[in-house]
Amino acid sequence: MSFRTAALVTGGASGIGREVVRQLTNHGLHVIVADIDRDRAIAVADDIGGTAISLDVGDPDAWRSVTDHLKELGLPLSAAILNAGVALGQAEILDMDLPTYRRAWSVNVDGVVFGLRALVPQLEAARGHAVITASLAGLTAVPFDPVYAMTKHAVIGLVRSYAPTLAAKGVGLHAVCPGLVDSAMLGAAREALDRIEFPLVKIPDVAASLVACALGTDPSEVVVVQPGRPPLPYRFADVPGGRTGKTMPPLPALLPIGTRCGS
Ligand SMILES: NC(=O)c1ccc[n+]([C@@H]2O[C@H](COP(=O)([O-])OP(=O)(O)OC[C@H]3O[C@@H](n4cnc5c(N)ncnc54)[C@H](O)[C@@H]3O)[C@@H](O)[C@H]2O)c1
Repeated sequence: MSFRTAALVTGGASGIGREVVRQLTNHGLHVIVADIDRDRAIAVADDIGGTAISLDVGDPDAWRSVTDHLKELGLPLSAAILNAGVALGQAEILDMDLPTYRRAWSVNVDGVVFGLRALVPQLEAARGHAVITASLAGLTAVPFDPVYAMTKHAVIGLVRSYAPTLAAKGVGLHAVCPGLVDSAMLGAAREALDRIEFPLVKIPDVAASLVACALGTDPSEVVVVQPGRPPLPYRFADVPGGRTGKTMPPLPALLPIGTRCGS
């Protein structure tokens, strides 16, 4: 089979990512399965005729292997699905160990930022799309996992704030926010959820929403996926404006707030 473009899926060896890999392949893309679990990534890639990369998304230097691989492939990158993620399942931050905290931030936030830094130039060349698997935990309070919620809120803020810059380069940026999904990530919580018959989102439904954004057929910036209904674009409420007797002027697109390290 000859492919016209490539797609990269992080966390592509399991759950939602694995199904995204399958669906994108069915759409005729060459898919690169990038995962920290090398053996499973190879197995998934072999299954669909794609390629596998062993990648820790939170390691900025490791992303060089992805850009090198893209060069070798010689295909334009039309879609990047930054999907790798981990939950902590810990309600009390006083009990959380630092490595667990650092890993959550590294995978869920650094992994997205480093992925965009590595891939935006390639996506720009192909006028492609970057899609982040966020979560309802990025839009709502999650008392059973506040740090997970923080990381997912972080990527939602990034998508909303960075999308205009990427749009000017011809690159789409989207976040898909599923409710609880029927995947291995649920771990020991699965039993409790089954007991109360909590409706879970089906993996193929989340994957279809990610793929629609990746192919440009869903232009939404932030999409909610709940069980039993089609994906919905999420609308954020306005915040109250100031009361100064004057109309607040729109902020300029570029405003050099803060200071940089070394300056
Ligand atoms: N399962 C849910 O209920 C649910 C709900 C909303 C959002 N999500 C999000 O969906 C995404 C996929 O989760 P899933 O449910 O398919 O879980 P999963 O555990 O089945 O898959 C996660 C994948 O990420 C990989 N991974 C973990 N750390 C990595 C790293 N440092 N570098 C590269 N790969 C790494 C794992 O090896 C695994 O293959 C995550 O971002 C998760 O936060 C999941």
